Order: sequence, then structure tokens, then C-alpha cells
Amino acid sequence: MQDKVVIVTGGSSGLGRATAELMIAEGARVVIADINGEAGEAVANAIGAEFVRTDVGDPMEVEALVSGTVARFGQLDVMCNNAGVIAIAPVLETTNEAFDHMVTVNFGGVFYGTRAAGRVMAEQGFGAIVNTASNGGCSPSEDMAVYSGTKAAVVALSKACAIELAPKGVRVNTISPGTMLTGMVPDVEGIVEVLDKLQPIGYAANPSQMAAGVLFLASDEGNYVTGHDLVIDGGATAGRRAVGV
Ligand SMILES: NC(=O)c1ccc[n+]([C@@H]2O[C@H](COP(=O)([O-])OP(=O)(O)OC[C@H]3O[C@@H](n4cnc5c(N)ncnc54)[C@H](O)[C@@H]3O)[C@@H](O)[C@H]2O)c1
Repeated sequence: MQDKVVIVTGGSSGLGRATAELMIAEGARVVIADINGEAGEAVANAIGAEFVRTDVGDPMEVEALVSGTVARFGQLDVMCNNAGVIAIAPVLETTNEAFDHMVTVNFGGVFYGTRAAGRVMAEQGFGAIVNTASNGGCSPSEDMAVYSGTKAAVVALSKACAIELAPKGVRVNTISPGTMLTGMVPDVEGIVEVLDKLQPIGYAANPSQMAAGVLFLASDEGNYVTGHDLVIDGGATAGRRAVGV
């Protein structure tokens, strides 16, 4: 990733921060974009990134993020559309506001980011886009109907974009993480132990274990990989566990 220019949305926390840190360790120049200005500035200062406050649900802000990054660095090598939100609720109790927010950020944000970066990369003739989905997209969870739907949509969108952009030298892939201990995990006593037990591998992931997958998809080592959904979930969606009978 030496000297490559990388944008990471949702880079103030969790997987986005871990991705930004790993990219910088590999020699990249990284722009963190996040709606949380205070955390974004602090993280960017701590890890040696630049920060642009961005609401990925606003197409104009995403266009400005991408065009500003290209104006600053001259090119864009990697776009990680990673920002996401969740509202956990039974489907019958899910509000219009919660639906709109998840669709706008999780699906809209990935579309706006893929379109803006894709235009620049198609013009350059190179680039890699890595979109964050979830293993909930292919194996949905109770009380996460809308969230899971947005993540399935991210995978389908990315595969279609991969087909369209491959002849232009641009790769588009998704990463589908399983449960990670990040700001997205509800702050409930004992939750970590419960989440650990749900993973066949025995513990919920550290975001850095996902960032390694993002790095592979973004890097030249992955230069023949496009339209792929890389599931990293400790075996959680590999199949059913025995029920002991
Ligand atoms: N944590 C998990 O178990 C898990 C599992 C599968 C997938 N994911 C996905 O991983 C991605 C990263 O989540 P995380 O677990 O690191 O959570 P996190 O809450 O720690 O980080 C999400 C980041 O996105 C930012 N963000 C939220 N809305 C935004 C907006 N409108 N514009 C810009 N930034 C915004 C937040 O400020 C935050 O910094 C998300 O897409 C999430 O859906 C998480």
C-alpha cells in the first residue's frame, strides 16, 4: 500500500479505525471520513491520518470528500465504504425513521461512495473499492430485518458494480464481518460473554481481524479478485451447530 491514497468512511471507530491504522502501517496515505467530528479529529491525529467530516448519507458530502481527496493527493487508489448504523428491533416495531436511517447510511452511503470513487477510478484506469456488508446479509438475525436487508443489498450492489467497472480497471468487493466488539455492540452487561459463545471459533472478533481482509481486497495481492464477498465470521454462518440430541 506504499503511498497509495485511501479513504475510509466510518474511520473514527471499530473496523474503520482498524482499517485506517493497518493501511497507514502499510505505507498508505489515509483520509478518514466520519459523521463524528470530535472522534474523527482525535483518531486522525493519533494515527497520522487526515480527517474530513462527512455524512455518507448525503451524496453531496460524499462527492466533496472524494473530489477534495483527489485535489489534495492527485489520485484515489482505495475507497472503503465502511460507515454503518444499526437499530435492533422486531420488524413489527421498526419505525419509519429507523428504516430510513439504516437504508440511507448503510445502502445509500455505499452507493454514493462507490459511484463517486468509481467515476474517479474509471477515469484513472485503476482503483479498488471495498464495501462493508455483514454476515447478517447472507444469514439474517432476528430483530435485524432492515439492517440485514441493507447488508444483502450492499453485496448485490457491489457485485453489479464489479461487473461494470472491471473493464475500466476498477475492482469492487465486499467484506462480510461476523460479530466484532466495536461501538456497534449494545452496552449491556454480560453481552461480550454471550457473543463469544455464539461464535464457533469461541470469541467475538477484534476489528483488526477484519481489517486484514479489507487490506487483501484493496491490495495488489488481490488484483484478480473482484465481485467477491469475503466472509470473516469465525464460522458463524458455516452451518448449524449440533443441538446435543
Ligand atoms: N460490529 C459488528 O459486529 C459488525 C458486524 C458486521 C458488520 N459490521 C459493519 O461494520 C461496519 C463498521 O461498524 P463497526 O462495527 O466498526 O461500528 P462502529 O459503530 O464502531 O463504527 C461505525 C462508524 O460509522 C460512523 N458513522 C455512522 N453514521 C455515519 C454517517 N452517516 N456518515 C459517516 N459516518 C457515520 C460512526 O460515527 C462510527 O465511527 C458497519 O458497516 C457495520 O454495519 C459490524
